[in-house]
Amino acid sequence: MATSASIVPHHVAIVMDGNGRWAKKRYLPRIAGHKQGVDALSRCVKACLARGIGVLTVFAFSSENWNRPSEEVSGLMDLVVLALAKKVQSLNANGVQIHFIGDRQRFSERVRSALVQAESSTANNQRLVFNVCFNYGGRWDIAQAAQKLASRGEAITELSLDRAMAMSHVPDPDLLIRTGGELRISNFLLWQLAYSELYFSDKLWPEFDEAELDKAIAAFASRERRFGQTPEQVSGLLHPT
Ligand code: IPE
Ligand code: IPE
Ligand code: MG
Repeated sequence: MATSASIVPHHVAIVMDGNGRWAKKRYLPRIAGHKQGVDALSRCVKACLARGIGVLTVFAFSSENWNRPSEEVSGLMDLVVLALAKKVQSLNANGVQIHFIGDRQRFSERVRSALVQAESSTANNQRLVFNVCFNYGGRWDIAQAAQKLASRGEAITELSLDRAMAMSHVPDPDLLIRTGGELRISNFLLWQLAYSELYFSDKLWPEFDEAELDKAIAAFASRERRFGQTPEQVSGLLHPT
């Protein structure tokens, strides 16, 4: 491993982009790229475990991805059900606790029950919290949190909103990686990325490997996170007031 434990980010979030282009380059249907994407994700989970990363959050399907051709959308739904049937055993063997983050109302009963079953069967695992954002949008999350507070008659503050968000069980991401070369957030964790370090990779998601993860971690380790303070305050020469 190229990085030392002290500089490994606790929470890594990933926009897994580029499956379609990976397939297109090989004259394959887009869904073939998504299948390779599942394998890349599986390897990525193992790499995170090996590096002592505590939380991995991935963007698997956005609120806007419903606008894709219907065969791609249904192919992605089938792929999730299939991947869970294949992988839940290995998640349990490796201490991975899976969560699905997003609006479940639009899913079929078959998809919903696969998500619930995977979550309940891995709920006691402690090595890695693995959040799969599936029918997720950052704007959806902020709106649903505000609606929750309003319906309870609670005051809207940064803290109460934060606690009502779908990701309230984990601290904010330290590092955001986006593969596929696009330099945008695409409605991912809008609230939680406020102070995350950003890393953009030209690799297409099916090609993402341990070496690329280590590059992102090394970039993270070389950054100075200031959270609004001056460099002198951060280096300990001046105490924050
Ligand atoms: C990301 O890959 C996976 C999903 C959005 C479901 P894409 O399918 O967006 O791949 P590109 O961007 O077309 O290459
Ligand atoms: C972002 O990728 C969503 C996921 C990776 C699930 P998109 O491919 O949907 O993003 P845009 O459309 O290029 O912004
Ligand atoms: Mg894309």
